[in-house]
Amino acid sequence: MDQDAMKKAAAEAALSYVENGMVVGVGTGSTANHFIDLLAGIKARIDGTVASSEASAQRLRDHGIPVLDLNATGQLQLYVDGADEATRQMHLVKGGGGALTREKVVAGASDRFVCIADDSKLVNYLGRFPLPLEVIPMARSFVGRELVKRGGKPVLREGFTTDNGNLILDVHNLDILDPVKMETELNMIPGVVTVGIFAARPADVLILSGENGVQTLN
Ligand code: A5P
Repeated sequence: MDQDAMKKAAAEAALSYVENGMVVGVGTGSTANHFIDLLAGIKARIDGTVASSEASAQRLRDHGIPVLDLNATGQLQLYVDGADEATRQMHLVKGGGGALTREKVVAGASDRFVCIADDSKLVNYLGRFPLPLEVIPMARSFVGRELVKRGGKPVLREGFTTDNGNLILDVHNLDILDPVKMETELNMIPGVVTVGIFAARPADVLILSGENGVQTLN
């Protein structure tokens, strides 16, 4: 099975968490795209979705699936999204697609966060994947210097603007041994909008797909 087929298998397994009448939080990225395409097959059963990016909102609308405003829906029962890295403790690194802020908002507003990924994303410790940070443009250099002081090597994601009009710094070289602590500390640097560590609010379910099938960690 190739990696894309594995992503699709993980997305397929997440469909069983969708219940009739739900408004479903929907993530961003190639794995979430599979979920969106599969959701189209059961769209009559759900009340709508909340999207974590403009790209996902567009894909949902293209399938004729209603996209609602989180301000109007209130708390969601379910959020389904991919990740760039995941541990067995359900801590994640996200933001490879640059949608981390809205992803963290929708995850925070959801009772259950189901993370879907191929098993190449499973790691013992977070940090191999460069950590994405969304920063406001005028704080870019300042935040960069603060990250260097903490041992990181920030690289500006060239030519990329987030859905919120901000920039992404991809931070190399960080050992994320205590994900909750690092998420909290980096969040406190003025100008940082969102840190791509999802540990304070981890996933509740991790669906991993590999050569030997799909496994679910709770
Ligand atoms: C988007 O900003 C990310 O958080 C994605 O969830 C993450 O990059 C996973 O993407 P893929 O499913 O494309 O690997």
